[in-house]
Amino acid sequence: MDDIKLVKMFMDDEIKKEVLNVLDSGYYINGPKLKAFEEDFKKYLGVKHAIGVSSGTSALFLAYNELNLQPGDEVIVPSHTFIATASPLAFFKAKPVFVDCDPDTYCMDIEDVKEKITKKTKCVTPVHLYGHPVDMDPLMEICREKGIKIIEDCAQAHGSEYKGKKVGNFGDIGIYSFFPSKSMTVGGDGGMIVTNNDKYGEILRLRRDHGRTSKYQNDNLGLNFRLNEIQSAIGRVQLKHLPEWIEKRREIVNFYNDFLNRYSNIKTPIEREWAHTGYYVYTIQIENRDKLIEYLKSKKIETGIYYPTPVHKQPIIEKLYGKQPKLPFTEEIVNKIVSLPLSPQLTNDELEKVKIELIKYLGD
Ligand SMILES: Cc1ncc(COP(=O)(O)O)c(C=O)c1O
Repeated sequence: MDDIKLVKMFMDDEIKKEVLNVLDSGYYINGPKLKAFEEDFKKYLGVKHAIGVSSGTSALFLAYNELNLQPGDEVIVPSHTFIATASPLAFFKAKPVFVDCDPDTYCMDIEDVKEKITKKTKCVTPVHLYGHPVDMDPLMEICREKGIKIIEDCAQAHGSEYKGKKVGNFGDIGIYSFFPSKSMTVGGDGGMIVTNNDKYGEILRLRRDHGRTSKYQNDNLGLNFRLNEIQSAIGRVQLKHLPEWIEKRREIVNFYNDFLNRYSNIKTPIEREWAHTGYYVYTIQIENRDKLIEYLKSKKIETGIYYPTPVHKQPIIEKLYGKQPKLPFTEEIVNKIVSLPLSPQLTNDELEKVKIELIKYLGD
């Protein structure tokens, strides 16, 4: 058996045909595939605006840019996330204020958010980490009360729902990533900005393409953050499969939970009653995590750590903003977390092999 991959990208003849069609069409940017992908994504989420961009990071950059951040303004972000949630802020001279995570869902701790709000807080960026949605109601209540904006980072949460509604519908602006490891991809880099706010929707659509209203008419400041036609065509095909993939991911999560819940030394993922998680990764906690990783590697089973260094401890963050206050839970779990193979493309044989090796390692 070949190595069992942590993530497998879906590729089929339809995607290959779509790519060839784009190559033959003569439209490579701003064409019909982008328009159609945006329409499909908008319908899938039930959101008013969907704007294709070149990556999730570009989407975050553009979203933060809309907030008119001034030097010293604060944006509350989780530390247990990918750095792109926080790094664009430095370009606006704004300051990320890091909060700890909920010990069960790994998402931002809302109580810690409440404690860290100051007069300078302009925005909170909840990240639906590993696909589990953040508890949006209490967060929206406090932000509404204090006039604080919300940018939802849905980069890991394709298909995830909070109280029956797809994530990306709750914040002022939401962002998605289509990086190749994500639950759906565009076969390269890509992202989507989503919003129910017409003002943001209209201006962001212009800003991702030089702010222009026609070919050589530039009324607004913008740059080139476009999503191209090949990527859009791949994204459309992938999006069609997404609902069935999400259910398959959930089946695999149940498969792992079924036997791993027997072990008291392992913490398996938790799903709150109001959540329908589009699991991006299957992450457990275990002491001596590196030993398990080495064992599985010797059996040709790939694992991942999302993420080994919390953002508040990254060298560039300390260089820009100084040493950051401790976040006890985040700092503890980063040494225990490990993600096991999870993708709808995994075969039953592959999953069985992972199960057998885990049981061998953990004991019967
Ligand atoms: C939580 C989170 N935010 C932002 C990003 C950035 O997305 P991209 O890699 O498409 O720039 C990612 C993905 O890599 C992510 O996981």
